[in-house]
Amino acid sequence: MDLLIQTIKEEGIVLSDSVLKVDSFLNHQINPQLMFEIGKEFANRFKEDGITKIVTIESSGIAPSVMAGLQLGIPVIFARKKKSLTLVNDLLTAKVYSFTKQESNDISVSKKYINENDRVLIIDDFLANGQAAIGLAEIVKQANAEIAGIGIVIEKGFQSGGKLLREQGYRVESLATIHSLNEGKVTFTLDKTE
Ligand code: G4P
Ligand code: NA
Ligand code: NA
Repeated sequence: MDLLIQTIKEEGIVLSDSVLKVDSFLNHQINPQLMFEIGKEFANRFKEDGITKIVTIESSGIAPSVMAGLQLGIPVIFARKKKSLTLVNDLLTAKVYSFTKQESNDISVSKKYINENDRVLIIDDFLANGQAAIGLAEIVKQANAEIAGIGIVIEKGFQSGGKLLREQGYRVESLATIHSLNEGKVTFTLDKTE
């Protein structure tokens, strides 16, 4: 997606060979116009797939997901990372292992919002090692719903998540795929749609 790649080039900050900071439009300050275009792009890629719900994870998955949900006319559910006071019963839960933090955390969604009639699009902001997406997929499976695909704003193609998810048979659509962050420079893998 050209506008996204352009924005990453202009505003992304390479923190190391493996981490890209995008606080100016995605992870802290949010660019609503860009999010709107991101939502349109996800909706366009999945419009023929009979999606009934989008499932994401707080916090940075929410903005792009809401824009995609707006375009597709369907609700958006975000998995919570902390147990909430009001979210106590009938939870679907999965463990997500973070390689960076070397710890596992539970994520959860109320059973109320996903059921066996749903076809779910999973969306997240970054794809690194794929553990968050796998946790979200586990939750969707617990609800006996179908997973139609996984939409990612920024995939780090040099990390293992994309390969892992595609090997498991998931359709993964990334709007920008980073080939490398070496030497302080962002290079992209161009996909077929660009
Ligand atoms: P891992 O699988 O690679 O170990 O990822 P990890 O769980 O450690 O990821 C921790 C957080 O960092 C996640 O957000 C994830 O989306 C994000 N992340 C991973 N790689 C990058 C990167 O290169 N740049 C940026 N900006 N973020 C990255 P989170 O903690 O769930 O935070 P949020 O969704 O509330 O923003
Ligand atoms: Na994040
Ligand atoms: Na995230």
